[in-house]
Amino acid sequence: MKVVTDRATLTQARSTLDGTIALVPTMGALHDGHLSLVRAAHAAGADHVIVSIFVNPLQFAPGEDFETYPRDINADVDMLAAEGVSLVFTPTPDVVYPSQPRVRIAPGPGAEILEGASRPGFFAGVLTVVTKLFHLTGPDIAVFGEKDYQQLVLIRQLVTDLDLPVRIVSAPTVRDVDGLAKSSRNAYLSANERDTAQALSRALSAGAADGADPVAAAAKVLADAGDVDVDYLALTGPDLDAPIAGGEARLLVAATVGSTRLIDNVSVSLSPEFTAPIKHA
Ligand code: PAF
Repeated sequence: MKVVTDRATLTQARSTLDGTIALVPTMGALHDGHLSLVRAAHAAGADHVIVSIFVNPLQFAPGEDFETYPRDINADVDMLAAEGVSLVFTPTPDVVYPSQPRVRIAPGPGAEILEGASRPGFFAGVLTVVTKLFHLTGPDIAVFGEKDYQQLVLIRQLVTDLDLPVRIVSAPTVRDVDGLAKSSRNAYLSANERDTAQALSRALSAGAADGADPVAAAAKVLADAGDVDVDYLALTGPDLDAPIAGGEARLLVAATVGSTRLIDNVSVSLSPEFTAPIKHA
């Protein structure tokens, strides 16, 4: 496994890789969720997997956790070596953005709701860096987790709308035994906050079990939990469109526990009795 930090060495190392190439873009502080993306890349037929590790300043607003975002490159590299990764690209911001970037990918209407409403500019920053990483690494496949569901949908739209020659593969959310979705930001939680944070996955499970009114079922669990500051709890169709009775839908939540903002989501099969449009609580 090669670990490269600059563009010239990346280009040289990439040119030695034959066959189907998959990219797994990450911000590092890797956990089982990221490793599941690498495994999904292999399962999707990749001959070689490239992992990028880059904490992208463009997707952090002033006051967010860009400076304190967990970083542990040595542990990350060890984990990736054990997963049969061929190439790790771990650039500094000046490698990805050699000059102050003026242009952003406009993520469209799907970025105006949910995470996009709470974090203006976030998805423009994500889609811009993902596009650059595609150009720099030239993958046939790119793998993203369902944990960041809105991001996954918007990246699919990016690839479709801009005719990018990359096949997007998704991988299910990986959870700890207590149900908490794996996230690098879980490291910010104290032991008590971690217990409280389980309410998110419990709420989503309750919602998924009630196809007639998933939002009400989930909202009750969150309200009973206490100390969970809900930003949004929303039901959408699979493409963030309006949910329809009898169809597949997505139940998404964002909430702050202590000072840590967490997101999670699940698939829901709506029953024929479902009537409501997108609901927020
Ligand atoms: O999901 C993430 O870790 C990031 O948003 C991504 C896709 C690596 C872009 O910086």
